[in-house]
Parts: sequence; structure tokens; C-alpha cells
Amino acid sequence: MSFKNICKVFDKGNDEIVVLDDISFFVREKEYLCIMGPSGCGKSTLLKIAGGIEAPTLGTIEWKGTEYKNGIPKQQLKNFGFVFQQHNLLEWRTVYKNLHLNLEIFNLKGEEWEKRIMEMLKLVGLEAYPNIYPHELSGGMRQRTGIARALVHNPDILLMDQPFGALDAITRKTLSYEMLNLWKKTQKTMLMITNSVEEALLVSQRIIIMNKQGKIVYEIDNTIPVEARNESIGSNEEFIKLRKKLDGIVHDIQK
Ligand SMILES: Nc1ncnc2c1ncn2[C@@H]1O[C@H](COP(=O)(O)OP(=O)(O)O)[C@@H](O)[C@H]1O
Ligand SMILES: [Mg+2]
Repeated sequence: MSFKNICKVFDKGNDEIVVLDDISFFVREKEYLCIMGPSGCGKSTLLKIAGGIEAPTLGTIEWKGTEYKNGIPKQQLKNFGFVFQQHNLLEWRTVYKNLHLNLEIFNLKGEEWEKRIMEMLKLVGLEAYPNIYPHELSGGMRQRTGIARALVHNPDILLMDQPFGALDAITRKTLSYEMLNLWKKTQKTMLMITNSVEEALLVSQRIIIMNKQGKIVYEIDNTIPVEARNESIGSNEEFIKLRKKLDGIVHDIQK
């Protein structure tokens, strides 16, 4: 998937604000790509454009061999799975029924799909809780349910907007390890916004960094070997080097 010269302009009263300014980048198939940048720089807008929820003001998106000028058409939505910071689960539906919702939205019927609900719950460690309601779940379990729901219709790409941002530090860390495993198991393409350097270095293969003006200013290859991405990643030399570099960049782009 590639993005060419994407601009997004919003009307604000009599003014226009340029949120994304000539953004070009690509996402490789099966890649785990992280996006970082200061608050308000347009990360969420970019993710919505990537998933066809919003259309760019200018620019084209190449997706599965087709160039789209006015954004990704709505009928392609089934190819994407979204996870947001707030889990967005329906409180009156059980965990199982929350996953079922995506099957209803995309009109996927049959035993195979019903079976897939349980497979996805198993993947996120919630196979024992299909009949529980969201208010009975911990924050981490709710996010896991959201992740399972984003996967249930078997999309090509998972788009995640600070999925662990509302969790406590320990749960956040646990879930980021789980995401890495999930990526290995599912082989899905992952595009994730995060504000944590450590999280990005743990899970990603590449990190793109935006500045306040809505431009991509850095692209970093994450050269930490996958074997080293475990509890002792903190003492990995490559990790230490990259964290120092990224901490510096993240500090600079706040200006
Ligand atoms: N639908 C919208 N209408 C007008 N302005 C918007 C809209 N969505 C986002 N914005 C503005 O675009 C800018 C970038 O927002 P966003 O993409 O949410 O940034 P980020 O996720 O990096 O914090 C903000 O100034 C925000 O107020
Ligand atoms: Mg945002």
C-alpha cells in the first residue's frame, strides 16, 4: 500500500487548516509499521485516510494494484480492522456478540465465521469469556476484545490508533508483547500509532515520525533482531542505540 502526496485540509470557520502536508510513504505487505508524532500533528487523520474512513483532500493511495484519487472506497472497508484507544465495545452485547457485530456489518454468514469468533478470542486469550459483558472486563481484556473484533472479518491490515494509550503501564507492556506475538501468528500488516518509543521498538519493523506541521520527517528501520524482542530487550545494544536516537528525535519534533 502506498500513499503519494497526501494532503488533508479542514475548514475551521473562515480559515483552513492544513493537517497533513504532502505525505508520501508505503507500507509493505505483512510489515509492522509504527507512526509517531506530537499530539495534533495529524496521525489519527492519516490512519483514517489509510483505512478509508476519511478521504484525502489531495493525493493518491495505491492499494492492491489500484490507484485511488478520492480515498479508499467504502466497499473496501472489509479489508481493514480498526482498534482505537477507547475500546468502542457495545456495552449491551457480550464479548462474543461484540465480535459478531463485524460479521453482521460485513455480511459474513455461516459456521466458518462463527468458528472464527472463538478462534480470535483464543488468539487474545479470552476463549473463556465469550458470554461476559464489557463492564465485567478489565481494561486490558476490553482492549483484547477490541483487537479480536478488528481481526474477526479477516482483514488484510490492522490499523491501530494508540491502542494501549488508556491502559496502566504494566498492562500496556503485557499487551505490546502480545501484539508482537499476534503479528507473528497472524502475519497481518500492522499500522500502529504510538507515543511510546519502547513500544515502537519492541513491535515494529519500521517507524515513521511526523512533525507538528504534519510532515513525515524521519523514517527509521528497526534493526533489533526479532529474537531479541523479549523481556531482556532493555539490555540489547541495538535497542539502547535506537532508543537514544528516537528519544532525541521525539524531543526535537515537539518544537
Ligand atoms: N473532522 C475534523 N474537522 C476539523 N478539524 C479536524 C477534524 N479532525 C481532526 N481535525 C484537526 O486536525 C488536527 C490533527 O488531528 P489528529 O489527526 O486527531 O491529530 P493526532 O492524532 O496526531 O493528535 C487537529 O488540529 C484537529 O483539531
Ligand atoms: Mg490521535
